[in-house]
Amino acid sequence: MEGVTIRSLFKKKREGKKITMVSTYDYLSAKLCEQVGIDCILVGDSLGMVFQGLDSTLPVTLEEMIYHAKAVRRGAKESFIIVDMPFMSYQVSTEEAIRNCGRVLKETGANAVKIEGGEEVAQLVYRLVSIGIPVVGHIGFTPQSIHALGGYRVVGRAEEEAQRVKKDFKALEQAGCFMIVLESMPTSLAKEITENSKAITIGIGAGPYCDGQVMVFYDLVGLVEDIKPKFVKRYVEGSILFKQALSEFKKEVEEGLFPSEEESYG
Ligand code: KIV
Repeated sequence: MEGVTIRSLFKKKREGKKITMVSTYDYLSAKLCEQVGIDCILVGDSLGMVFQGLDSTLPVTLEEMIYHAKAVRRGAKESFIIVDMPFMSYQVSTEEAIRNCGRVLKETGANAVKIEGGEEVAQLVYRLVSIGIPVVGHIGFTPQSIHALGGYRVVGRAEEEAQRVKKDFKALEQAGCFMIVLESMPTSLAKEITENSKAITIGIGAGPYCDGQVMVFYDLVGLVEDIKPKFVKRYVEGSILFKQALSEFKKEVEEGLFPSEEESYG
């Protein structure tokens, strides 16, 4: 796979070619993403819910993000990797945020960090970008603010909220974010933002008009059974296939059919 860079991503935007991103947390899935030519891999803090079984992303730690990002980099040596900065790793002070973002790039070999928030993080984005740390923004529904937002919901339906989202986007763009994730917002709002944007927009639950789309690996392969938000598409029913395999294994062991001669050492 030819190396993806910020320049090549902007080239795609200019040429109107869609950008693909998958959020994943482990060596094997990252390897699959690279093999099929997914443009960017996000090591998302959604790992708190999807991988760890937590109720939200809030408890995820910096050490856990670094651990997963290292595994992803081992599986996807050439890919453009973005790592989510977890809750409270960048909010306390600029100094601490810079140290933590620097650690992520130095220790994992990732290409960029992602932070949630709008105008309130613009100053930080400016500092990070000015010292050479590429930053991806994330606005609309921001999972780390789940309590403040009053639960999972579409953000920007009301005019006042839509104006806020647009202001946040401009603030991040001016501060130097090269890419901004637009999560759970009306299609028309994401379309308007994208049409007027210099930064690359990546949608999730934001309709088809963004420059690219991101989806969580375990959602798209159908392994997340309990929740299926409207914006998720399962490209394969993974949980059904995996359960079939597990049931067959169980049956064959119980019936003495596995292991056979073929799976045994002579
Ligand atoms: O944590 C994550 O996986 C994300 C994407 C869904 C955008 O932030």
